[in-house]
Amino acid sequence: MKDTKQQWFKDAKYGLFIHWGLYSMLGGEYKGRKTTRIAEWIMNNFDISVEEYEKLAKEFNPVNFDADMMVRKAKEWGMKYVVFTSKHHDGFALYDSKCSDYNIVNATPYGKDVLKQLADACKKYGLKLGLYYSQAQDWHDPNGLMFRKENSHKDYQYYLDNKAKPQLREILTQYGEIGLIWFDTPMDESTYEQSKSMFDLVKSIQPNCIVSGRIGNGLGEYMTTADNFIPRLPYKGDWEVPATLNDTWGFNKFDNNWKDSKDIIPLLLKIVSRGGNYLLNIGPDGIGNVPEESIKILDEVGSYVNENQEGIFGTVRMDYYSYEPIGLELTQKPYKLFVHVFSPRPRIELLNIGNKIKNAYLLHNNEKLDFIAYRACEDAALIEVEIPEEMHEKAYYCVCLELEEERPIFEPLEDEA
Ligand code: GLC
Repeated sequence: MKDTKQQWFKDAKYGLFIHWGLYSMLGGEYKGRKTTRIAEWIMNNFDISVEEYEKLAKEFNPVNFDADMMVRKAKEWGMKYVVFTSKHHDGFALYDSKCSDYNIVNATPYGKDVLKQLADACKKYGLKLGLYYSQAQDWHDPNGLMFRKENSHKDYQYYLDNKAKPQLREILTQYGEIGLIWFDTPMDESTYEQSKSMFDLVKSIQPNCIVSGRIGNGLGEYMTTADNFIPRLPYKGDWEVPATLNDTWGFNKFDNNWKDSKDIIPLLLKIVSRGGNYLLNIGPDGIGNVPEESIKILDEVGSYVNENQEGIFGTVRMDYYSYEPIGLELTQKPYKLFVHVFSPRPRIELLNIGNKIKNAYLLHNNEKLDFIAYRACEDAALIEVEIPEEMHEKAYYCVCLELEEERPIFEPLEDEA
């Protein structure tokens, strides 16, 4: 079972991923060709040479990149941490790196250390800062690995010793406290010893810094699910779902397949009830603007999160519940069961929950609700909570049930008994 031993991560529930780099300038298109894959992979997918791709740096002048605004927004959205791509697979560092000139300070007309700006903003708004670092793939370094390409001629150990580890040391020493390192795409070439030495390096500099699931060789301190995948069942260890708002991480000007906040909110609650964190992505464009659609979606999700925060933060993983009530998600904390309602109804019905209910009320305004708890004709426990008439057509609200007992009592289905 994965255990970060970091309470902030267990409590966080909700975070902001920021994918941003040279690829953001291309926005999913190179020399008239549009990519059908995630846009930050364009160099790999279109076989753009290092010399060609490097030219992007000379034009990178993201004057609208506003770290303070992004972190302030993340805070307003109810998020508790930010994870930023300090170096993605393309090998370009978004911070002032002394061990590779291929970085935003030395190689671009912009010349500013955006990671420093983000670190300052996170401190100012009280959010944890995590850093994505592509440890195995580096398409710029002659010895960095490249997915779906030939790597056998490369001296991977040389790359680790001369780029990856020195850069890790930099990001862990130059920007204050780093909440986690978000490693990604572990490759088969990495031996256990190589992954372990990266793990040990992180811990030797910042012992409380969490190492993400994708370091490889089973060394991660929490489970990172595959992109946009939600486990079917509650998972006991610490875990996180990285997820997109459209179908890309890095900016893609053609991708308008935006998810609806009405879908994102129930997904957040589903993840929270199963004990995980939801890390939602934004991909600013090449001049640093965050797509308006992302802001709109996250504003809407944020208003549910803020209004119903008691039913989200400080909750603990639910036990396995045999039913999937349609349009509802459940969360819990000691002596409380929260029912998040996502489809309109005159009353909430919950089957096979055998608690004694002390009180029922709407979370956003504390209005008390009538309820009864009894045995239905199949002898299953049934709780009914009456929704006030003026809310029958409404959804996206949360009802708190105060329980006599510390935890919800989910009665087994008959043949489980
Ligand atoms: C994938 C991709 C990567 C992205 C990441 C986010 O593994 O390689 O581009 O950063 O998922 O979860």
